[in-house]
Amino acid sequence: MRSDAMCKPPPFDLARVLCRLDELDGAREFRLGGGEWPLRGFVVRSGEGVRAYVNRCAHRQYPLNHLPHQFLTQDRSLIQCSMHGAIFDKATGYCVAGPCAGRSLIGLPLRIESGYVLLADEVDIELLAARYA
Ligand code: FES
Repeated sequence: MRSDAMCKPPPFDLARVLCRLDELDGAREFRLGGGEWPLRGFVVRSGEGVRAYVNRCAHRQYPLNHLPHQFLTQDRSLIQCSMHGAIFDKATGYCVAGPCAGRSLIGLPLRIESGYVLLADEVDIELLAARYA
């Protein structure tokens, strides 16, 4: 017997899904939007919460990672740029050490729904992709 719940579409826009909450262990990279220049970002666990940032360092605006999903210091307590080593607080994106100390990553609003981490509805993905590609 099939359950009606199995046939219903999810109650949110699938194009805004960044990852499953239970699959987020540390940090996870994402790309959203069409075309050759999607919005590149990452989500990171911060205490009991989750934060998202544009994958663009506050120093030279390069992507922070060289390897997929690799955004954290060895002890996983902070975000680290793989290019020149800037260190950022996970909860705020504030650079606490390195060549861009005092500046911040660009935060993205999120919501959690039905076990998924989603980019908030007010975020214009195409606009951000064009701005930060
Ligand atoms: S580009 Fe990130 S520290 Fe230089």
